[in-house]
Amino acid sequence: MTLLLKVDALNPDREVIRRAADVILKGGLVAFPTETVYGLGASTYNDEAIRRIYVVKNRPMDNPSIIHISSLNQLHEVAEDVPEELEEKLKIVWPGPLTIILRKSSRISAVASCGLNTVAVRMPAHPVALTLISESTPISAPSANISGKPSPTRAEHVIRDLWGKIDLIIDGGESFFGVESTIIDYTRKSPVLYRPGPFTVEELRRIFGEVKVPEQALGLGQFKEALAPGMKYRHYAPDKPLILTECGELDGLVKLTLDLATDEVKKGKKVVVLCSSETCGSYAKVGFRIIEVGSRLNLYTVAKNLFHSLRLIDSMDVDLAIAEGYPEVGVGLAVMNRLRKASGYKMVKCTA
Ligand code: TXA
Ligand code: MG
Repeated sequence: MTLLLKVDALNPDREVIRRAADVILKGGLVAFPTETVYGLGASTYNDEAIRRIYVVKNRPMDNPSIIHISSLNQLHEVAEDVPEELEEKLKIVWPGPLTIILRKSSRISAVASCGLNTVAVRMPAHPVALTLISESTPISAPSANISGKPSPTRAEHVIRDLWGKIDLIIDGGESFFGVESTIIDYTRKSPVLYRPGPFTVEELRRIFGEVKVPEQALGLGQFKEALAPGMKYRHYAPDKPLILTECGELDGLVKLTLDLATDEVKKGKKVVVLCSSETCGSYAKVGFRIIEVGSRLNLYTVAKNLFHSLRLIDSMDVDLAIAEGYPEVGVGLAVMNRLRKASGYKMVKCTA
């Protein structure tokens, strides 16, 4: 049995959050909104509850979850050897969509860390998530979707994937950013980016100085060894095939996308184009179905609608989706990383 409770995202009813905190403390599973995507949470100190998360999500057992905290005291509870200079920086960036990999403390079980000696930790910038944690305990939470599907950015996505399998869903409306947190590894000499997210590389470098950005973090091709265990699995994918078009220049991108869509229609395929406010008209006027993802003038709008758009594809009477690419600046890097993975690395580039 799953219970659904609605709250105001910015000013959540404390009584409702206390009820949810009680479910966490009693070993239950609660889906809750964060500023990035919805998480599926259990107490970090309850191995049985954490194991249940893996079962209901159908998540591989070697893929650890992020530990969500609401204070720096909790950071020292879950992580060890936190460098002093890092703590000063965390006071600037937290709460926020940035996850840091650190050495785990002895309090963290092998189940909670999937046997690794590190933990991924973040303090979410969302009133519902922060209050839920401060009313309960550090919360281990992967995204609240069936493994492999696009992460949920609305309660309706969680309902679709997990209704009847978890104890409670807190509906706090749409997540603010729409893509998962940026992850950096802080156990190495200089920080390494594992997953691009709303906290951009440009912002990271301003705070942390040198930050390494390996090819894997861009979502370029598959690779032998995954930096984060989760990176080796297929992700974000709609059930229907998706092709990503990439071109540095906008007219070239539209032409490439139109040509590809036209070819596929000639082969008898029903096509939908995932396009931007600036370009959708070019496809609509020649009769293509479209999903408008967001504006190129503000890539945060694209990030926010991206996973909902990917989920829409499967609800439409189409055989194939073609998605336009975006510039890899700012949050565009996170958007492209997710789109490349969603396409299963089926990318078509312009020749120019
Ligand atoms: O925005 C987010 O990060 C959302 C919300 C709910 O906070 N959570 C999320 O969790 O995206 P999940 O489980 O879908 O992604 C967590 C990623 C996985 O790729 C996992 O492999 C990686 O973090 N990870 C977790 N612990 C790690 C560790 N100790 N070392 C390396 N990677 C780790
Ligand atoms: Mg996930």
